[in-house]
Amino acid sequence: MRNYFKPAVFLLSLWPLIIIGYQIFYNKLGPEPVDRIINHFGEWTLIFIFLTLSMTPLKKITKSLEWIKFRRMLGLFAFFYASMHMLSYVGLDYRFDFEPLIDDVLKKKFVFIGFSAWLLLIPLAITSSDKMARLLKQNWKKLHRLVYVIAIFGVLHFIWLSKTIFFKPLIFLIILIILLLFRINFNKSGSKI
Ligand code: HEM
Repeated sequence: MRNYFKPAVFLLSLWPLIIIGYQIFYNKLGPEPVDRIINHFGEWTLIFIFLTLSMTPLKKITKSLEWIKFRRMLGLFAFFYASMHMLSYVGLDYRFDFEPLIDDVLKKKFVFIGFSAWLLLIPLAITSSDKMARLLKQNWKKLHRLVYVIAIFGVLHFIWLSKTIFFKPLIFLIILIILLLFRINFNKSGSKI
């Protein structure tokens, strides 16, 4: 039965792609289709970052190692959706015209921090394999703690672009605080993960 968990999580992780594909195909994106696509992928990026961060607390709470098996896959999906988010912004909003894009990154702080979060995800995706973990030894764990910085940047990005904390950004902020509190707690109790 457990052999099916990983493929099942993989298929479930494709859900955001299926929904947006359906909405594009049946013309159900609403009055602002480009924004709808960008925001869809942005939100799911944050959700996958949070899911990745939830695996260690779930392992501790349920005293089961099963959760850790999904962590890498969820993290790679976070990177995939972040890249789709950025690609739809660059491709649909700017038609791959990089000049105004660079201008945006430099002038709008919410784009700057979103872009920084995406850049930070790259080394984590590249070093996500077991082989890289063995190669980098203790440095691997240190490097992968960057995911907390990425989560903070992601939430700040959402708050800054929304110009108000209500309502969705607030929910994401609360989840982030809970996950950070778990992290601090585990650190105190000596966990190295
Ligand atoms: C880890 C990286 C990132 C995360 C977690 C993230 C997350 C989000 C979220 C949650 C939203 C708002 C969704 C909504 O309103 O429902 C959003 C919107 C947006 N993001 Fe990101 N983002 C990331 C990276 C980027 C990058 C790299 C760029 C561009 C270079 C970018 C540009 C934008 C823009 C322009 C919007 C607003 C779209 C609109 O309303 O027109 N984001 N992002």
